[in-house]
Amino acid sequence: LVDKAVAAANTLRRDELLFSYKGILYPVTLCSPEVFRAMESLEARSDDVILAGYPKSGTNWVGQILGDLVAIFEKKTQNEESRVNDEELEEFPYLEIGDTGKYERMNKQTSRRIMVTHLLPENLPSSVFKNKAKILLLTRNPKDLATSFYHFTNGIPTLPSYDTWDDFFVDFMTKKMPWGSYFEYLSEWNKYATCENVMTITYEELKENPVLGVKNIAAFFGIPLTEKELQTVVERSSFQSMKKNSQKTHGTFGNLFFRKGGVGDWKNLFSEDQNKKMDRAFEERLGGTKLGTKLKG
Ligand code: A3P
Repeated sequence: LVDKAVAAANTLRRDELLFSYKGILYPVTLCSPEVFRAMESLEARSDDVILAGYPKSGTNWVGQILGDLVAIFEKKTQNEESRVNDEELEEFPYLEIGDTGKYERMNKQTSRRIMVTHLLPENLPSSVFKNKAKILLLTRNPKDLATSFYHFTNGIPTLPSYDTWDDFFVDFMTKKMPWGSYFEYLSEWNKYATCENVMTITYEELKENPVLGVKNIAAFFGIPLTEKELQTVVERSSFQSMKKNSQKTHGTFGNLFFRKGGVGDWKNLFSEDQNKKMDRAFEERLGGTKLGTKLKG
């Protein structure tokens, strides 16, 4: 899918790569207004496994963890035949990326479904909140996230590239990013951060203690794990292991999705002034909130 999107993007000019829908920019090679409209037909279920995270917050990492957890769960609860059948029905996990028929096909799936999304809560299908689907909300320190986004947008032809980090920084601090502003994302999602059906996790805490992180995620989605299964999920989702498999999982540009996988790389890019600007913007939008406090901590 990435390779296909890249091939389509290579025929476009920089100013043709993004389109605006309800005031937010998205890549034309991945999303479309028709698909956004069709998405409302998705019937969410209380056992759906939803991961919400802004681009570059580690969604591929946590998506891998969720994939393994659900596979373990399905193996224990389903017979072999329906498991194989459902595997064939599986859709690309990013909710807003696909074709207009995707959501009707997903409605027919009988096994537990995984959905990863970069969308704001108000742009999700209304059944997600109505039917109390469980949502894992992944956040990342905005400085590392911006750093990661900068390298990604400059490496992948589906997104506009920038001549300088300073130019990128200006756009990042406004709404000119694909999937909108990260600050707006955090403050909108913060409204849901204390809901019973929402679990929050930061990239940094998962990095510091992946065993505990995976354990908590599994418990939240009601997936019992043996010690051995836990170890396997942690090992398979390690940065080294995912990077090694990246060409198989993400195609020619696989390496870009697994760049450094650490904490603190922002120090190599930010000027003192940019550092202060971001601290100020963060404090203004998120100061004292659950998500803000967690990210600062
Ligand atoms: P860096 O660019 O800082 O390395 P997303 O998957 O949402 O696009 O996020 C990409 C970021 O998550 C990248 O950050 C990538 O390296 C990092 N990442 C991907 N897999 C990871 C893993 N298994 N462990 C830690 N970080 C990971």
